[in-house]
Amino acid sequence: MNPKILIIGACGQIGSELTTKLRHIYGDNQVVASDISYNNLDIVNSGLFEILDAQDYASLKICIEKYEINTVYLMAAMLSATGEKYPMKAWDLNMNSLFHVLNLAKEGFIKKVFWPSSIAVFGPTTPKVNTPQYTVMEPSTVYGITKQVGERWCEYYFNKYNVDVRSIRYPGIISHKTLPGGGTTDYAVDIYHKALSDGHYECFLTEETELPMMFMDDAIKATVDIMQAPTESIKIRSAYNLAAISFTPREVAESIKKQLSDFTISYAPDFRQDIADSWPKSIDDNEARKHWNWSHEFDLDAITNEMLTNLEKKTLQNS
Ligand code: SER
Repeated sequence: MNPKILIIGACGQIGSELTTKLRHIYGDNQVVASDISYNNLDIVNSGLFEILDAQDYASLKICIEKYEINTVYLMAAMLSATGEKYPMKAWDLNMNSLFHVLNLAKEGFIKKVFWPSSIAVFGPTTPKVNTPQYTVMEPSTVYGITKQVGERWCEYYFNKYNVDVRSIRYPGIISHKTLPGGGTTDYAVDIYHKALSDGHYECFLTEETELPMMFMDDAIKATVDIMQAPTESIKIRSAYNLAAISFTPREVAESIKKQLSDFTISYAPDFRQDIADSWPKSIDDNEARKHWNWSHEFDLDAITNEMLTNLEKKTLQNS
């Protein structure tokens, strides 16, 4: 099947880099980017683009029919920290958009769906180190609840209606191109921006808070790989554990200091500390590695190098 792709939430942190990658792989005419507003002009101006509210079933269906879409990447979501401020909005956005897409697939309008899950599906009762694929899952955030429920529905739609839906549990994603929005892992991006602009960062998590993280290039590779994998190799239809590295704020600071020796960090934990404390420190992603050959490339120092080099370049270009 030659994919004709719709990306929902194409202006967001992962959506924007995914859009660029998919346009590169499949061609500009095969990829329609969409979002609720024009908040990333690079994406809006670099190919097909539609304004689309992921919660509006009728508009979604019209768009899918208009472009004869067969594959949807549903990247619109409210993340963990913002979700705690607006619980019902997070529930509505995260669940309604998923049901719309799953139902369009069930009704035969689309053939293949990518929907991201997250390490937020785990909770305080989950084993924290090398968290297995199958384990206790009692998420304590609204975001985590939507992702866990979403996983159950994805598996249900696969089993009952043969919907080809694929998912991975993203860790915190680090990128120099787009800023994350409203997550608990956002510090791992902010810290590089502040290291260059101020030489200092005040972290909203404590220095020993270890969380699973991944460089954007690895996250995009995983997304493309799972969608390109033959159907029979996707043996898990809820969502795959996915891991690259784990680190603490202190370790990122040390990695930055290797390049910017004057950099300093202080700690002022806020409400996001509780969220971080409820999540795993590290993830066992053996199934993804075995079933569809997942492997990551970037470790912490490689990420630091990419982040500082590229953010510096951007500052020079803009000055
Ligand atoms: N990065 C997300 C968050 O912090 C986790 O999936 O909410």
